[in-house]
Amino acid sequence: MRLGEGMKTSSGERSLKAYLSERREAVDAALERFLPSASVANRKLHEAMRYSVFSGGKRLRPILALTAYELAGGEGDAVLAPACATELIHTYSLIHDDLPAMDDDDTRRGRPSCHKAFDEATAILAGDALLPLAFEIVAREGRLTPGIRLAVVAELAAANGLAGMVGGQVADMEGEGTAVTVEAVEFIHLNKTARPLRAAVLVGALAAGASSDDVAALSTFGERMGLAFQIADDLLDVTGTEGEMGKAVGKDEGRGKLTYPAAVGVSGATARAKELTEEALAALDVFGDRAWALREIARFVVERRN
Ligand code: IPE
Ligand code: IPE
Ligand code: MG
Ligand code: MG
Ligand code: MG
Repeated sequence: MRLGEGMKTSSGERSLKAYLSERREAVDAALERFLPSASVANRKLHEAMRYSVFSGGKRLRPILALTAYELAGGEGDAVLAPACATELIHTYSLIHDDLPAMDDDDTRRGRPSCHKAFDEATAILAGDALLPLAFEIVAREGRLTPGIRLAVVAELAAANGLAGMVGGQVADMEGEGTAVTVEAVEFIHLNKTARPLRAAVLVGALAAGASSDDVAALSTFGERMGLAFQIADDLLDVTGTEGEMGKAVGKDEGRGKLTYPAAVGVSGATARAKELTEEALAALDVFGDRAWALREIARFVVERRN
C-alpha cells in the first residue's frame, strides 16, 4: 500500500479527512477482491452480500486495523485481509441487527436495509455467508505467518461470539423495556460494540507482529474508544437526523432500549463519552507522536454526526 501523501494538507497540518478517505479507498478495493465473483446458482445471495457490503459505511473498523498495523511497524498489504474481515463481520451484524426479530429497522446506510431490499431469508443467509468469509480470507492470507493468522482468527471469533458481539446483542434485546442502570448499559456496550472495535485495532497490531506491551496499550485504547463509540451512537439516536445518519433515529427510546442517554441523560452520556475518550488517548501516550492518527480517530468517534 502506498498511503501517506494524503496525510498532510497544504498548510502541513495532518488532515484526518484525507487520511480516512485514502484508507477507505484501499479497503473498498480489497473488499472488491475478497468478495466472491457472481455465482449463477446463488445470484440473489451474492447480490445481497454485495448490496450490504458496498453501501457507504464509514469503514471505521478496517481503518482502525490499518492504522494500528502502521503504528506497530507493519508494511505492505497483508493487513488488508484481517482489516476486511472486521468489516465483513460488522456488515453481517448490521444485517441481522435490522431484522424484524431484532431492531426491525427498514433503513441502513441511507437505503432500504437488506431484508427490505431482498427478503428476510436472504438477509439472514447473506449475514450467515459474510461471517465465514471473514475467517476464510484471513486463513488464506499467505503473507501472514500461520501463527499470526490463527491469532487473528481467534481474536475475531472471541470478540464477536458469546463473550462479545452476539452476547451483547442478546443482552440488548433482553434488556428492552427493563429498568435501565449504568451497569446494564455498560455490559451491553462492552460486548456488542467495544469488543469488536477493540478486535479491529488488535488484529492490525497482531498482523504487524506487535510487541505484547504495544498490544496491551492498544487493547486499552480499543476498549475505551469502543465504549465511547457506542455512547456516541446512542446520543446520535437522540440528537442526530435520519439524513445524516442514514438510519432511523429516535427509535431507541420507543423500544425501551438500555442506552447511555436513557441511564444518565444526554449531558451525562456526553460527559462519559468524553471521559472514555480521554482514557483512550492516555493509553496512546507510550507511542508518542506516532499515534497521531489513532488520536484523531478517537476524537472523530465522539464528534461525528453519522
Ligand atoms: C453502527 O456502526 C453499529 C454500531 C455498532 C453502533 P457504524 O456507525 O460504524 O456503521 P457504518 O459501518 O458506518 O454504517
Ligand atoms: C448495534 O447497535 C450494534 C451491533 C452489534 C450491530 P445498534 O442497534 O444501536 O446499532 P444501529 O443504531 O442499529 O446502527
Ligand atoms: Mg441493535
Ligand atoms: Mg439497531
Ligand atoms: Mg444505535
